[in-house]
Amino acid sequence: MYLNKKVIVITGAAGLLGSEFCREVIDNEGVLIMAEYDVEKANELKEELKSDRVHVYQTNIISKSSVENLVKNIHEKFNRIDALVNCAYPRNKNYGRHFFDVEYNDFCENVGMNLGGYFLTSQVFSKYFLEQGYGNIINISSIYGVIAPRFEVYEDTEMTMPVEYSTIKSGLLHLTKYMAKYFRGKDIRVNAISLGGLEDGQPKAFIESYREFCLNKGMLSPKDISGTLLYLLSDLSKYVNGQNIIVDDGFTL
Ligand SMILES: NC(=O)c1ccc[n+]([C@@H]2O[C@H](COP(=O)([O-])OP(=O)(O)OC[C@H]3O[C@@H](n4cnc5c(N)ncnc54)[C@H](O)[C@@H]3O)[C@@H](O)[C@H]2O)c1
Repeated sequence: MYLNKKVIVITGAAGLLGSEFCREVIDNEGVLIMAEYDVEKANELKEELKSDRVHVYQTNIISKSSVENLVKNIHEKFNRIDALVNCAYPRNKNYGRHFFDVEYNDFCENVGMNLGGYFLTSQVFSKYFLEQGYGNIINISSIYGVIAPRFEVYEDTEMTMPVEYSTIKSGLLHLTKYMAKYFRGKDIRVNAISLGGLEDGQPKAFIESYREFCLNKGMLSPKDISGTLLYLLSDLSKYVNGQNIIVDDGFTL
């Protein structure tokens, strides 16, 4: 098993993608720390996973004391942390509006919560990793951190590709490279996964026009991403550092 007793922290663990990542960690003999704001949802998933290797810690990635307490509590219980997976998706109630409807304060708040939260969590964990002598951070980005939006896919729907999202996810890719290089010689890896859209009840017209840009499947399911996560968590990728792995069925080509 690839993750034999590795202690792996997943933020946003009870979400659409995070919950599949949790299954992958448990299936591969890892010790799973679900760092989740919505503790009720996290406990439901814990029940479903039926393993004594699952641990839920209520965490808010935009609160320094919350993330510091998380690290302290994990250290006291397990005496090690092998990896952090940044997979939470904080956003405020006005997130996702069309470009001209986005208020300055909402733009700043959403970028601050999401990109800022990923920065804060990575900063606190990497401090621990430095003391520990090794570490591994995986940032969940998106195809829209890599390419400009394909706005045509959203035509005939109420949906759009939010400007905050492109800003957050492209910034996250550069934060990934920045941190990988900053920790040169410290055995701390920092990589990103940029995934394509996950099918999750979107309108049929959207799913179909999205598929036209893909090579085989179209929109993905969380399971389609978890093999890449497993690779980055495992020692198979020991010298993969500062990279962005795109999993998108060719959408960005
Ligand atoms: N869903 C997609 O199509 C898609 C595509 C590309 C990338 N992604 C990325 O994948 C990641 C996960 O997305 P998802 O679709 O699973 O989102 P989701 O909304 O289903 O899950 C996000 C989880 O984060 C938790 N969360 C929110 N704020 C938090 C906070 N402050 N502290 C801790 N936890 C918090 C929520 O409770 C939720 O369980 C995000 O980075 C997202 O941008 C998603």
